[in-house]
Amino acid sequence: MEAVRPATRTPVSVLGATGYTGVALLRILAQHPAVELVHLSSEQYRGRPASEVYPFLSGIVDETLGAPEPDAAAAGELIFLALPHGAAASLARDLLRRGRRVIDLSPDFRLRDVAVYARWYGDHGAPELLSEAVYGVPELYRDRLRRARLVANPGCYPTAALLGLAPLARAGLLSAPVVIDAKSGTTGAGRAAKVEQLFAEVNENFRPYAIGSHRHAPEIEQELRAAGATAPPVFVPHLLPVSRGILTTMYVRVPGGKPALDSLFEQAYSREPFIVLRGAGPPPELREVRGTNRCAIGWRWDEATQHAIVVTAIDNLGKGAAGQAVQCLNVLLGLPETTGLEAPALVP
Ligand SMILES: NC(=O)c1ccc[n+]([C@@H]2O[C@H](COP(=O)([O-])OP(=O)(O)OC[C@H]3O[C@@H](n4cnc5c(N)ncnc54)[C@H](OP(=O)(O)O)[C@@H]3O)[C@@H](O)[C@H]2O)c1
Repeated sequence: MEAVRPATRTPVSVLGATGYTGVALLRILAQHPAVELVHLSSEQYRGRPASEVYPFLSGIVDETLGAPEPDAAAAGELIFLALPHGAAASLARDLLRRGRRVIDLSPDFRLRDVAVYARWYGDHGAPELLSEAVYGVPELYRDRLRRARLVANPGCYPTAALLGLAPLARAGLLSAPVVIDAKSGTTGAGRAAKVEQLFAEVNENFRPYAIGSHRHAPEIEQELRAAGATAPPVFVPHLLPVSRGILTTMYVRVPGGKPALDSLFEQAYSREPFIVLRGAGPPPELREVRGTNRCAIGWRWDEATQHAIVVTAIDNLGKGAAGQAVQCLNVLLGLPETTGLEAPALVP
């Protein structure tokens, strides 16, 4: 039997619908009771149904893929941009001029300083919009998001680090460089073919990459400083032989003695529907968040070294991308934030 849908649903477009974050959006939005998919774009699959590119969408999303152009995309009142960096900025400007709201999953509007953006990504296509964009972590920026026209959906690693460290930063505990040791599945790099992402390169292997040069480093630093940190982080990403998920372990030196970690995390997140507080219980693991918008957070105090150790687990395509973007859509539309995001993890 067909599910009962509200009489009016908000028309939504997804540009970059065939990429990994785009298809993660389709999977969620197709089941969302308050939206309707009206325009989907692709570069290489234009003119073909989305369900031909991803057969699992047959009978669920059969719409034909079109061009990533603003006139067609403006059929949506709200547009998700799931495009490579550089491709989103001017499109966002065109869509805002047409009176639409935009949730951009690319890095184009995450960095507030255009010079920092230029250093890491190149010239910016719409620098005048940087000050307006709201960083899309509802747990931290909910009030500003309610009024936003342009949402800068965060990077996957920054989400994982920030949710674990923000309560400590706010309490003034990040005055020394924190070590952020993060491990991601391969979908974090997108769907385009790359030799280092081949099965034989990744399977039964585990390695760090982009040490000291990952583009998420300035984003993590910007947001940690906004939360109260006074030192830059040491960030090292690693590639795990799994398709989805980021497990991040963070080491915070706290010379003043044991902080009240339990109450810091409780105060920050006890009412947050997608934050699972593990405390000193079983540490977070990837499979509990796989396919969800959840972030599981655990912590320990190491008396011998005076370190707080915080562990987070997210799905990079869930809370690290599409799930968080839909949570932001729910905030923008004034809906309960869990709408369309209630599915439990795929376990085992
Ligand atoms: N993957 C993650 O875990 C993750 C997490 C958070 C944020 N992000 C960000 O989200 C964005 C999308 O990431 P992704 O992993 O989904 O990438 P992806 O798998 O490479 O997909 C990119 C999508 O954009 C389309 N596209 C490529 N070049 C384009 C252009 N010049 N103009 C218009 N469309 C173009 C592609 O179309 P065709 O393939 O059909 O040609 C595809 O639909 C990126 O900016 C990324 O940094 C990714």
